[in-house]
Amino acid sequence: MNPAEWIDLSGKVAHVTGAAHGIGAAIAEALAAAGAKVAVSDVNGEGAARTAEKIDGLAMQLDVSDRSAVDAALARTAEELGSLDILVNNAGVYIGYGGPVCEITDDMWRTLWSINVDGVFYCCRAAARIMIEAGKGGRIINIASTQAVSPGVGVTYDGSKAAVTQITRALALELGPHGINVNALAPGPTWVQEGDAPPMTGEAPPRSGEPLGDTVADRISRLPLGHWGAPMEQGKAAVFLASSMSDFVTGAYLPVDGGWLTL
Ligand SMILES: NC(=O)c1ccc[n+]([C@@H]2O[C@H](COP(=O)([O-])OP(=O)(O)OC[C@H]3O[C@@H](n4cnc5c(N)ncnc54)[C@H](O)[C@@H]3O)[C@@H](O)[C@H]2O)c1
Repeated sequence: MNPAEWIDLSGKVAHVTGAAHGIGAAIAEALAAAGAKVAVSDVNGEGAARTAEKIDGLAMQLDVSDRSAVDAALARTAEELGSLDILVNNAGVYIGYGGPVCEITDDMWRTLWSINVDGVFYCCRAAARIMIEAGKGGRIINIASTQAVSPGVGVTYDGSKAAVTQITRALALELGPHGINVNALAPGPTWVQEGDAPPMTGEAPPRSGEPLGDTVADRISRLPLGHWGAPMEQGKAAVFLASSMSDFVTGAYLPVDGGWLTL
C-alpha cells in the first residue's frame, strides 16, 4: 500500500473552466502537479494562456454560457490530450450581480445564471457524453459555495450555487452506474484579489462591489480558523476529489471553508 499512488493523476486528462485566475488557476496547477494533463479554459483567453504556460497545459478561450462552444472545447480536450477523465466546473461570477432583491435587474439575474448554472449544465452534459462513450468512468467536480446552504451574498448568487449543488446530486445518481463520480466542492471565503497570501482577519475590508459585504466581513472575523483561505486550499481538495483517494465518494458537498458553516 502506497498512499502517494492514491493521489497520482498520471495518465489522466482534466479540463478546468474559469482557470485564468483565482481558484480555477490554483486547481489547474494542483491537478498538473499531481500528474494530470490539463486543459484550461476561460472567457479571458489570454489569462487561460498564462495559466497553461505555467503547467505546460492546453489553453482555450471559452465562454461557458455558449453551449456549442462548450461542446467544441471539451471535444477538443479529448482529441488533443487523448481523453477526458476529470472536469472541473469552476467558472463563475458573483461581484456585480447581487445586492438587495429589490435592486436586482432581470439582466443581472439572467447573466449570472447563464454562467453559474447554464454553464455548469452545458459542461456536465458535454463531459458526460464523452465519458460515457469512452466507457472509462470519470470525475466531475462542480465548484459550489458555502452560500449554497448558508446564504449571505444575495439571492442571485446564493440561489445559483444551491442549484449547482442539487445538479451535482442528481448527476451523481444518474452517472454513478457509468463509473462517473460527481461531487461539489464548496469554497468558503477564499482570497483571490492579489498575491498568494490571504490577509488575516481584520485586515481585509469587504471586497469592492461585494454584495452585502458587511455580512461577509463580519462572518470572516468569526471564522474558526481565523483567516481567509488561499486558492490552493481548493486545489488540494480538488486533487482529493479527482483522485483515487475519493473512489467511493459521489454526490458529496464538501465545504473547504475554514469552519464558515459552523457559524
Ligand atoms: N473566492 C471565493 O471566496 C469563493 C467562495 C465560494 C465559491 N467561489 C467560486 O469559485 C469559483 C472561482 O471563483 P474565484 O473566486 O476564483 O473568482 P475569479 O473571478 O478569480 O475567477 C473566476 C474566473 O472565471 C472566469 N469567467 C467568468 N465568466 C466566465 C464565463 N462566462 N466563461 C468562462 N469563464 C468565465 C473569469 O474570467 C475568472 O478567470 C466561482 O465559481 C466562485 O463562485 C469563490
